[in-house]
Amino acid sequence: MNNKKEFQKLENLNQQHLLTFWDKLNEIEQKKLLNQIQNLDIEVFKLQQLLVKNPNSAPEIFEPFEEFKNSGNQELYSFGKEIIAGGKVGCLLIAGGQGSRLRFEGPKGMFPTSLIKRKSLFQIFSEKVVAASKQSNRSLPLAIMTSPLNDVETKTFFQNESFFGLNKDQISFFSQKMLPLLDPNGNLFLDSLFHIAEGPDGNGNALKYFVDSGIWETWYKKGIRYLLYVLVDNPLTDPFDAELVGYHIKSGSEITVKTIKRDNESEKLGLLVKHGEQVLVKEYTEMFPEEQVARRTDGSLKHQVANMSVFCFNMNFVHRVGNLNEVEIPLHKAFKTATFLNSKGEISHPTKPNAWKFEHFIFDLLPFASSVKALLSPRSECYAPLKNFEGQHSIKQVQEAIQARDRTIYTQITKLPPPEHPFELAFDFYYPTIDLMEKYKNKPLPETPYMEPELFYKPPPSQ
Ligand code: UTP
Repeated sequence: MNNKKEFQKLENLNQQHLLTFWDKLNEIEQKKLLNQIQNLDIEVFKLQQLLVKNPNSAPEIFEPFEEFKNSGNQELYSFGKEIIAGGKVGCLLIAGGQGSRLRFEGPKGMFPTSLIKRKSLFQIFSEKVVAASKQSNRSLPLAIMTSPLNDVETKTFFQNESFFGLNKDQISFFSQKMLPLLDPNGNLFLDSLFHIAEGPDGNGNALKYFVDSGIWETWYKKGIRYLLYVLVDNPLTDPFDAELVGYHIKSGSEITVKTIKRDNESEKLGLLVKHGEQVLVKEYTEMFPEEQVARRTDGSLKHQVANMSVFCFNMNFVHRVGNLNEVEIPLHKAFKTATFLNSKGEISHPTKPNAWKFEHFIFDLLPFASSVKALLSPRSECYAPLKNFEGQHSIKQVQEAIQARDRTIYTQITKLPPPEHPFELAFDFYYPTIDLMEKYKNKPLPETPYMEPELFYKPPPSQ
């Protein structure tokens, strides 16, 4: 095997230690390792090393962001619904993360989440799209971003579940890429005899991979002009948020961010801030602590608006940023726990953080937009992320939030108080058609734990 070029590349980068076990590898294993070395992007690797070596950036002070619009505007909702029904909107569901804090083996989207039916996050989003499609009388498109770590499992899950009622041509998948991890000294390391440790590169390149996959072009040709970007781990998200679309178009912005008010100063959320004329999101891990807890003279928090990474993008903007060079979008580092190969060639699973992981964040695209607007919504309507195995943002809290939302929707549909017992609503009630509204007005929903609309029309029994 001719491997001179790859060995030279490692030598130039001072990373020859990756070849410690080279002589023990069979031909296939050697090929795999060579392949990874070939694909190593030198420019990005140098950027990663620089990030590790550089101490955190100097503290920054920001102006508060205050120009948000409060949600609950019926006109914007109706306008957005018309645009969706006109076939101009698609949804991109982001599901490439590892879900390590949840301690779930497998794609986070497969986590059994709903209260009664234990629907997975993927099922919840898919059925919402099915219901929104019924309401719009049109097959609404859904694209899902996976990662090389969960792509096959995700697609197999959808196939085995018959795509949860979606038409096959309504749903598409594409995968994000990986970035190498670095040890505390800024060097690459192995996590098996023939594999360089790496992790998914964050959600910030999603638009680039969406464009590269060809889905952008297919959708654009079909007339789609707006893209709703949603995260798989927040089951209260509306994948076809009509008011967000309505406000986005009426305000003429390139990006509209769906936001919530901060609850308290220590909540782990990115904040919307102003830097001169620019609207930015600053992640909690990277914000100067004094600035994070800063208060106004009346005692309220200086920065009140939080990001939950739900956006409406213009498709033209998506195309523009989709063609940016990878190094133009900032890279963020986080010290995490990662499997590694020790000096004896044994696989080791540390319990404490030991390696730098690198990610791009979607909100770093804000400065590339000519104008950014924000819609502020009550968190009970839109925010219940599933992040942790226990405590805050655990499954227990998520189920409570879904139950509370179901109870509100129950009353919106029936104009009656909801029953006392726990129940779960089918998503038809979240996207009611005119027929459904008429049928259930002032009428209790079926008294079952899982409430589905009865069939409006029963075909006559066959003779
Ligand atoms: P998080 O940053 O909460 O990460 O992702 P995570 O991977 O789900 O969970 P932890 O940090 O390992 O516990 C927020 C959203 O971004 C997606 C996730 O799937 C989730 O929808 N994401 C994250 C990606 O699509 N790719 C990534 O590389 C990282």
